[in-house]
Amino acid sequence: MRTDSAEPVRLKDYKAPDYLIDSVDLNVKLHPTAARVVSRLSIRPNPNGRPDAALILDGDGLIVKSIAIDRAAPADGVVVVSPQQLALANPPQRPFTLDVETEVNPTANSRLMGLFRSGSAYCTQCEPEGFRRITFFLDRPDVLSVYTVRLEASRAEAPLLLANGNLVEAGELATGEDGVARHYAVWHDPFPKPSYLFALVGGDLGSIHDAFLTRSGRRVALGIYVEHGKEPLAAYAMDSLKRAMAWDETAFGREYDLDVFNIVAVSDFNMGAMENKGLNIFNDKYVLASPATATDADYAHIEAVIAHEYFHNWTGNRITCRDWFQLCLKEGLTVFRDHEFSSDMRSRAVHRIADVRALRAAQFPEDAGPLAHNVRPETYYEINNFYTATIYEKGAEVIRMLKVLIGAESFSRGMDLYFERYDGTAATVEDFISCFAEASGRDLSDFFRWYRQSGTPLLEAASSYDASAGTFTLHLEQSSKPTPGQDHKEPFVIPVALGLVGPDGDLPLKTETDNAASAREIESGVFVLSTPQRTIIFRDVESRPALSILRGFSAPVRLDYAASEADLIRLIARDSDSFTRWQAAQTYASRLLTRAVADIGAGKSPAEDYDFVDALASVLTESADPAYAAQMITLPSEADIARDIGENIDPDAIHAARFGLRRAIGKGLSSHLHTVYARLAPDGPYSPDAAAAGRRALRNAALDLLCAGEPEEGAALASRQFASADTMTDEIAALGALAQTPGETREAALKTFYRRHAHDALVVDKWFALQAMLPDADTLSRIKDLTGHPAFSFANPNRVRSLVGAFATGNLTRFNAADGSGFDFVVEIVLCLDPKNPQVAARLLSAFKSWRTLEPGRKALAEAALRRIAVRDVLSADVRDIVDRSLG
Ligand code: PHE
Ligand code: ZN
Repeated sequence: MRTDSAEPVRLKDYKAPDYLIDSVDLNVKLHPTAARVVSRLSIRPNPNGRPDAALILDGDGLIVKSIAIDRAAPADGVVVVSPQQLALANPPQRPFTLDVETEVNPTANSRLMGLFRSGSAYCTQCEPEGFRRITFFLDRPDVLSVYTVRLEASRAEAPLLLANGNLVEAGELATGEDGVARHYAVWHDPFPKPSYLFALVGGDLGSIHDAFLTRSGRRVALGIYVEHGKEPLAAYAMDSLKRAMAWDETAFGREYDLDVFNIVAVSDFNMGAMENKGLNIFNDKYVLASPATATDADYAHIEAVIAHEYFHNWTGNRITCRDWFQLCLKEGLTVFRDHEFSSDMRSRAVHRIADVRALRAAQFPEDAGPLAHNVRPETYYEINNFYTATIYEKGAEVIRMLKVLIGAESFSRGMDLYFERYDGTAATVEDFISCFAEASGRDLSDFFRWYRQSGTPLLEAASSYDASAGTFTLHLEQSSKPTPGQDHKEPFVIPVALGLVGPDGDLPLKTETDNAASAREIESGVFVLSTPQRTIIFRDVESRPALSILRGFSAPVRLDYAASEADLIRLIARDSDSFTRWQAAQTYASRLLTRAVADIGAGKSPAEDYDFVDALASVLTESADPAYAAQMITLPSEADIARDIGENIDPDAIHAARFGLRRAIGKGLSSHLHTVYARLAPDGPYSPDAAAAGRRALRNAALDLLCAGEPEEGAALASRQFASADTMTDEIAALGALAQTPGETREAALKTFYRRHAHDALVVDKWFALQAMLPDADTLSRIKDLTGHPAFSFANPNRVRSLVGAFATGNLTRFNAADGSGFDFVVEIVLCLDPKNPQVAARLLSAFKSWRTLEPGRKALAEAALRRIAVRDVLSADVRDIVDRSLG
């Protein structure tokens, strides 16, 4: 139900642009409240467009100062202009130039789209439709232009002037009448690009510099720009960048193409970072790190985001998207590439588990709720709302699946073909997939359903063993629930990687059919389910095997397989696949937790299970890799459990059940956990590498369980760790452990932490988030107080996310409090943020995406809260879109 008459944008209405803009010359005079932008566009009719069409350039809130066509003032009525549009009803049907001067106010720009200020610096954000907030343009990704940008500013205010491409000229200007010494710089980007990749930065920033020698011997100057005084905190980002550049050459054959690559870190940013050509702009959260301020997870994120934005240079910039429906063409593919990079830099096994955890936490609920959409959507009201886990994470999974399906070699040939054929163009997902069809000789038309159908398929598996015949029969069945606008679905092509695990490990696979396809399946262990069901009979199976299914998480599906608990224990001990081994432990835990939730709901106390605790004990004593062991002993989150249960959710019962199991494990494994904790005490100098991080992860996972099992001893360990920690990883883990128990100790530790880190906004964000996620009844009033804390600001997206976002997405019990207070609070914040920064407001609101799975009382309160937004007359397009779809 939409209350306004807005029409969506539809993929099927795509038309090539009627005009092209070959070059853009911008002259930008920076000023805090009245920046002047003079743009000269070289325009010509598109031979593939409609002749004599009107030319309509996009604008957004622009003040026009002057207009010229072919350098002359246009006659009256030739140009019709408003803040949102510049229209020529009868543009010349030959190449011509259009000069437009506009004025914008960067200081008043609270949406952080277009030209805005972060601190005293000027910067831009143009994806997806921010360039129109700077000047009039065909602001769509299939219009590629060569940009030359001249920047002018007060030398004192902005000694640094950056834009895309290479620096061609810089110098001083005569001091003006106002006595301000001004200077300028000219940047030229030879690679035609869409407007969303435009960027400029002006300001007074510190920097670090390095260089990278490409494999063909070109020297690229690297710069990272940060607030003065923070230069040392950019070292890890620089190191990550150089590793990413080298990796893209070896793994994908992609070399960097400009003479410079600059990264600027700003503290006010709606998203993580932006891949503007040659001038990436980052949320400083993904640049700044020191052992004392950044956790191991922060280091891993910095490495991943730096790589992600760098990889966009080929997947996004050199080959861009034809239209925004193709967003996954650059985002899914680039996430796939950054996952591969991180896997090569760190432990592939541990990384896969972390990626799947993240996919299930963020994407599965999206796919299961009212905001479900295709990896390649077909309509949208507000494109800003499609930077989602489905486009990014599921988009990456689909590509990963494609690689599993056609094999690494065909995949690599397909990628080469894609780069060769589409370089310099604005492509579609069909273009991309056609390269793999050609490279593999396979028909991928059914596979394409992953892009056209939303929702997570359910894969049901059933098996039987016939001892006398020595056969193991596996029956696979897929089904998909309706999702918004899609009642019926065609079967997905699901690669099911599997193995049969005997008492001593993997058994050889042998099936009865004898053809090329089945030989390939046997050899790879990947069985393809492309029909609603399929039965596979394995022969010569000597004893009943344990089925290890969906190895490596070979497809983004939900699995339903009634493995016996004995089989799960065998998999935990013996599975050769590290993912399914971890999954077996998660499945076991999830079963115990689901049962416990039911017991708690029925007023019974949950039964204990010693076999599971014993299995974890062996993991702790036998596992050689601490990072992996940490993943094994970390229980499913409350949200994971809620998803497994699926409906009629009572968050309090889930919290109680999870706490009960943590306590049982903490008690049952006490001596093992103490041993691990002592054995992994920090020794030697700090390293951010995966091995050192893994030791910290396991030690802190042990501490968490000890605190649940033995609150007093645990708290003593945590207090000692909190006092002596020399890494943020250990310090925040200790604080988190202490925060489990309400009282004086906790409050004192929170005070100490703030005093230690009050000067560092990114660390204070951790302090906000930790408090926002406390399960206590008084958390909401604590959060309300914190919104008045001097370190908090509604104008800064990182602050809002760390306090309100962490509450809405990371605090299952309090956000979904039975009295509706959590919903009301988030709604109030969304409404207050919406006029200032609709993108951040809309993202917060999407925390309601699973409201329909709640038990009836909470569900009614959530709906009432959403309706209070929906009835408002004045809402941004962003929030309107999310609220209407959430209720739809
Ligand atoms: N394109 C950016 C990225 O993935 C994300 C982004 C989108 C940033 C929109 C800002 C605005 O890497
Ligand atoms: Zn991206």
